[in-house]
Amino acid sequence: MGTVKTCFLLFVALLIGIESEAKSQNNSNDQLLNTILSYVNESNNACEDFYQYACGKYKHVHKLDPFSEITTRTDYQVNQKFLILMEQLSRRPQESLTIVEKQVWGFYQTCRLAPLTTRYAKHYLELVQPDKNLSWPQFAEQSQDWRKDDFKWMETLARLRRYGLFNVLIRVKVLEDQLDGTKYMIDINRPNFAAKSERLRGPLRTSMMLVQLGVSTESAQRLAIALKKFEIAVRDLAEVEDEPNDDLTIKKLERLTGGNWRRYMEILLGHTISSNYKVQIQNVNYFVQLINLINFMDSELIASYLMLRFVMHIQDYTMNSNDEINCIKDLRINMNFAMNLLYQEHFFEPRQFAKYQHEVHLIFNQIRSQFMHQVKQNRLRLKVSQRTMITEKLIEMNINIGNLPKNLDHKTFVQNVYKDFVLPFPHWDYAASHLKLLEIRTHQWLLQLNSPAPMNQFMFYVADTESCMSSTPYYMLRQNLVIVPYGILQEPVFGLHSHDIFKVSLLGFMLAHEVMHGFVDGGIVYDANGSSSDVGAGIQESYRFEASMDCMNRNETDYLDERMADITGIRLAYDTYFGPGSTYSQEQPKFTEISLRKLFFLNFAQFFCGDLNYIEFEDHDSDDMRLRQTLMNFSPFAEVYGCREGRDAMHPRDKCRLW
Ligand SMILES: *[C@@H]1O[C@H](CO)[C@@H](O)[C@H](O)[C@H]1NC(C)=O
Ligand SMILES: *[C@@H]1O[C@H](CO)[C@@H](O)[C@H](O)[C@H]1NC(C)=O
Ligand SMILES: *[C@@H]1O[C@H](CO)[C@@H](O)[C@H](O)[C@H]1NC(C)=O
Ligand SMILES: *[C@@H]1O[C@H](CO)[C@@H](O)[C@H](O)[C@H]1NC(C)=O
Ligand SMILES: *[C@@H]1O[C@H](CO)[C@@H](O)[C@H](O)[C@H]1NC(C)=O
Ligand SMILES: [Zn+2]
Repeated sequence: MGTVKTCFLLFVALLIGIESEAKSQNNSNDQLLNTILSYVNESNNACEDFYQYACGKYKHVHKLDPFSEITTRTDYQVNQKFLILMEQLSRRPQESLTIVEKQVWGFYQTCRLAPLTTRYAKHYLELVQPDKNLSWPQFAEQSQDWRKDDFKWMETLARLRRYGLFNVLIRVKVLEDQLDGTKYMIDINRPNFAAKSERLRGPLRTSMMLVQLGVSTESAQRLAIALKKFEIAVRDLAEVEDEPNDDLTIKKLERLTGGNWRRYMEILLGHTISSNYKVQIQNVNYFVQLINLINFMDSELIASYLMLRFVMHIQDYTMNSNDEINCIKDLRINMNFAMNLLYQEHFFEPRQFAKYQHEVHLIFNQIRSQFMHQVKQNRLRLKVSQRTMITEKLIEMNINIGNLPKNLDHKTFVQNVYKDFVLPFPHWDYAASHLKLLEIRTHQWLLQLNSPAPMNQFMFYVADTESCMSSTPYYMLRQNLVIVPYGILQEPVFGLHSHDIFKVSLLGFMLAHEVMHGFVDGGIVYDANGSSSDVGAGIQESYRFEASMDCMNRNETDYLDERMADITGIRLAYDTYFGPGSTYSQEQPKFTEISLRKLFFLNFAQFFCGDLNYIEFEDHDSDDMRLRQTLMNFSPFAEVYGCREGRDAMHPRDKCRLW
């Protein structure tokens, strides 16, 4: 009896489950379709300008929304979810929170409630001094009190490096060994001044910063000019590129350049090293000249330069505001792993989480087999050895969803990362908490030095830039790894219950674009292990590869590798759905009369639709240009929309193709 009843109940539950799944599928498809169609401006001709056609009304639809395209929208949605979570955590009894929840909630409260004065640059500089018992010159009681002779610029720089300052005078990173991508090394190079944030601002802004730190107006102006001159002198030195160097021992480096590198490294690493410790170094001659230059400069000036660059660095890693959203952003910047864990724990049901993982892996694998198929076609007429290299790299390529290590328990891993973040919360000192988190990040990053085969053990990325805020997938060139942030796994980008056409045309395209970064200019020169590859370089220099690059650069772009990833990515995603070997349904879906192929392009365009007036494009061409360039070079688009070859702008006669 009992069994029958249970059985019956189970059966009902199953039925309900099936029905609600079907319903959410219906809802999801209708919603996505409605969204897409709401952006289409039928007054424009798809064959003349697909951007104006597919995205023409985006601006109008989202006039009042606090985002301007799909990435910022995703980001916004992620922040809103976290806001609600903070609200929930605040209502739960403290003792019911997990360790990581306590830490996140603690830093959030610190961000919200700590006195404003604890955010001041001056306060950071009290906490981080040039040396154990030496203040910054501006903070000495009297300027003649500042103990010039105790100031060792390289040692100070190493101290600041522990809080993440990695590109000032010396650019020092932990990188894959150039020759053996399975091994990490300390990599030392000349600094890069390309980004605005890597240079002092104009003398006026700089002197204002100095005044805020307590320098008198008059000396601030003088100092600001001297600092800028110093920076320009260093920039001039850093313009010159040497021959690449072999790895060098510290001993040899000291002999060549005259700097105290051993001390520098010991402070950075936090332990002693032998003078035979090897680093990977480029542009040794820059360091010879830099050390020479600094030896003739006033210590106070050098200290001031480091101090200001440190303050600028800190500002890069905080939203510098105690409002709710900015505190959420602060958390995402500074407690990236913890936030990923909380996202996983709170915003996915466990059963659904497995489904998401499964679906994304499925698409990734379909994309890879489609590319394998393209490689077999061998349009580039590659040699066997070259195709073998491509194939191996493709097989070894990995995907990580959520940027937490694959083979470790996420909770244990994250607890371990933040194990030293044990302040009394809320901590009434924002800077002190923030500095602790910056140290933890550097520590994680140095830990990579101890792991001989990061490719297999880690499979995630210790972000040292803004990419921890990224809501779109990205490809790690040297790790041969695609990272998919959790935040992207929600509508409108990815609905678990939506039709596959939506999944493959949008997330699928994003993944295909990232996969292709490994096989276009920039990525092709690295092999499966992320080591420099002569075979890869041979492919890059081959006639057909170069001709294709030139073709794609006819409308010149500063971001050619991005364009190549777009143009090759669309073919890959499209063929994944429609090409030979596809396992996706080719049947006309019930929820619309629009053909699958048109749906594909319309939904693909969602990645680019936005309000162009409000977007600053970095490292990519503008979205409208990207969309046009991509589809102009893809003839199936023209076929589907019935464009006229040579007459319509979206269907030029000579198209570019790589793979
Ligand atoms: C889903 O939509 C179709 C029509 O598009 C309808 O016939 C069907 O009943 C719907 N299913 C559910 C569960 O709502
Ligand atoms: C649709 O496109 C036409 C022609 O470019 C334009 O005049 C119109 O303003 C657009 N409509 C909207 C709502 O943006
Ligand atoms: C720190 O510096 C002060 C002078 O500013 C000196 O009196 C004191 O002895 C120093 N302490 C150490 C540990 O060097
Ligand atoms: C990558 O590294 C592994 C382990 O060191 C090695 O077995 C493999 O041959 C390497 N692959 C390539 C393409 O160098
Ligand atoms: C390509 O460049 C030419 C001139 O350089 C310009 O007229 C044309 O509009 C560009 N095409 C696209 C799609 O940007
Ligand atoms: Zn890209």
